[in-house]
Amino acid sequence: MITAVYRFVFILSLPVLLGLVGCDRQPDPEQGRRNLHLPKAGYVGEEAKGSALYTRYCASCHGRGGYGSEQGPPLVHKTYRPAHHHDLAFHLAVKNGVKQHHWHFGHMPPIPGVTPEGTSDIVAYVRKQQRQAGVE
Ligand code: HEC
Repeated sequence: MITAVYRFVFILSLPVLLGLVGCDRQPDPEQGRRNLHLPKAGYVGEEAKGSALYTRYCASCHGRGGYGSEQGPPLVHKTYRPAHHHDLAFHLAVKNGVKQHHWHFGHMPPIPGVTPEGTSDIVAYVRKQQRQAGVE
C-alpha cells in the first residue's frame, strides 16, 4: 500500500521533473549569438571604428579600403555584396577563418583580435566602401 502511494507521488512529480530538465535545455539566444561571433542583439556597427579595425587586422590581405592585395581578394567586389555574402559570413570568417574556395590566395586564418562588436564595426565600414563603389 505504501509503495503504491510512493509510486503515485512519483508519477505525479514526473511532469515537474521533466519540465525542469526541459528548462535547462532551452537554447540561450545570447549564447547562440556568441557561438556565431555575433554581438549582443541590437548592437549597431560603427563605420569609424570599423575603418581603424579594418586597417589594423584586414588590410594586409584585403588591401587598403577593401580593394584587394597580393595576399587576399578585394571585399569591395560583387562576390561580397550583401545578397551574396551576408554579414554573418564576415562574423564567421573572423571567428573560424575561411578555406580557400573563391580565389587562389590560400586560406584566411581566424583573426582572434577582433571581437563580435568589432566585426560589426568592420562590416559597417566595408558595406559603406561597397556602396560608394556601386557594389550593392
Ligand atoms: C592573411 C590574410 C587575410 C587576413 C588578415 C584577412 N583575410 Fe579575409 N580572406 C582571406 C582570403 C585569402 C580569403 C578568400 C578565401 C577564398 O574564398 O578563396 C578571405 C575571405 C574573406 C571573406 C569571405 C568569406 C566567405 O564566406 O567566403 C570575408 C568576409 C573576409 N575574408 C573578411 C575578413 C575580415 C573582416 C578580416 C579582418 C578582420 C580579414 N578577412 C582578414 C585572407 C585574409
